[in-house]
Amino acid sequence: MIPPATGTIWAALPVPALLIGNKDGCEHIADCNPAAEQFLGLSRRGVMARALAQVVRIDAPIDRALGRCRENRAPVFINDVHVSVGERPSTMCSVQLALLGDRRDLVLMLLVPRDIAGKLGKADGIRHAARSAIGMSQMLAHEIKNPLAGISGAAQLLSMGLSGEDRALTDLIVAESQRIVKLLEQVEQFGNQRPPERRAVNIHDVLERARRSAEVGFAAHMRIEDAYDPSLPPVWADGDQLLQVFLNLLKNAAQAQPDGGRIRIRSFFEHSLRLRGASGEDVALPIHVEIIDDGPGIPPRIADEILDPFVSGRENGTGLGLALVSKIISAHDGWLTIDSVPGRTVFRVSLPRAPSAAVNKESI
Ligand SMILES: Nc1ncnc2c1ncn2[C@@H]1O[C@H](COP(=O)(O)OP(=O)(O)O)[C@@H](O)[C@H]1O
Ligand SMILES: [Mg+2]
Repeated sequence: MIPPATGTIWAALPVPALLIGNKDGCEHIADCNPAAEQFLGLSRRGVMARALAQVVRIDAPIDRALGRCRENRAPVFINDVHVSVGERPSTMCSVQLALLGDRRDLVLMLLVPRDIAGKLGKADGIRHAARSAIGMSQMLAHEIKNPLAGISGAAQLLSMGLSGEDRALTDLIVAESQRIVKLLEQVEQFGNQRPPERRAVNIHDVLERARRSAEVGFAAHMRIEDAYDPSLPPVWADGDQLLQVFLNLLKNAAQAQPDGGRIRIRSFFEHSLRLRGASGEDVALPIHVEIIDDGPGIPPRIADEILDPFVSGRENGTGLGLALVSKIISAHDGWLTIDSVPGRTVFRVSLPRAPSAAVNKESI
């Protein structure tokens, strides 16, 4: 089935891969690689020509996805799918489908277990330990803010009777207290995030708002360019929360290049990404926004934990920026992809489009 020249690649591919053919409406296995044999616990000969559904249970409308892949001649990506074989416990996988060259009937199916797929930054809630750390920080934030306000107020009163060097000291107390209050407010904001109030939102309005406040504030030293697809349909989102997402991403991009540089904001429509929403149904995420910077890239030592709260690569960082981004995108059933090499870092936010009923309502 696989031409000899590519045979070695096929055999070496560490991801379970199947070739799926369609005969008289029945999806069957036309070939599989050694990684798939291992994954399925069955030999290649044992699975060849058998119906896909008989060999492996994929907890997703896979026939429809295969049909869509053939019809649109475009790859299909389904995330967080339980895949099981025989009596074995299921494995959480992402399933990737791609049409094989010009052969309209053959689809390449990759079953990527989550431990491999986890490299993609799934905005997937927060781990247990992090959750209790957040709870404690919130409690501390609340407890510290009040006395801090008292300390800073007292310093301000004291400063009235002072001059020169002594005054500089009280100013320092006030400035440092304010810095801590700001940090504490971030912690509180992170914990208090409410569920999104979703409606049809024009993504470019949000992006322009974020861009404007970036340009007059934290990103004044940067050149911001945009490449928008003006025909994008509205997204199904909470506009204020999305604004926070893009502000955080722009801020990180600007901080990655303290001496100035370029940030690009790109929006586009691409319909191959689908994933499982919180309520278990299939959600399409066709609207994508990328924030791209030319900075040095994410420090490799924190790359795996970058979405966790309190993980920061910067001296005065809180590590809450991306944790909040991740939390908001997750609440929107969205998806965050991070791709970073020195010189080019891309944060891509993928979002669902607004249901047409909501769009019509907005325009009345
Ligand atoms: N665009 C980027 N380029 C390089 N590093 C980044 C970028 N965005 C985030 N990071 C890294 O991820 C870390 C965590 O970011 P974030 O959660 O926003 O927290 P903070 O900005 O408070 O450190 C940053 O400290 C930085 O090291
Ligand atoms: Mg940040």
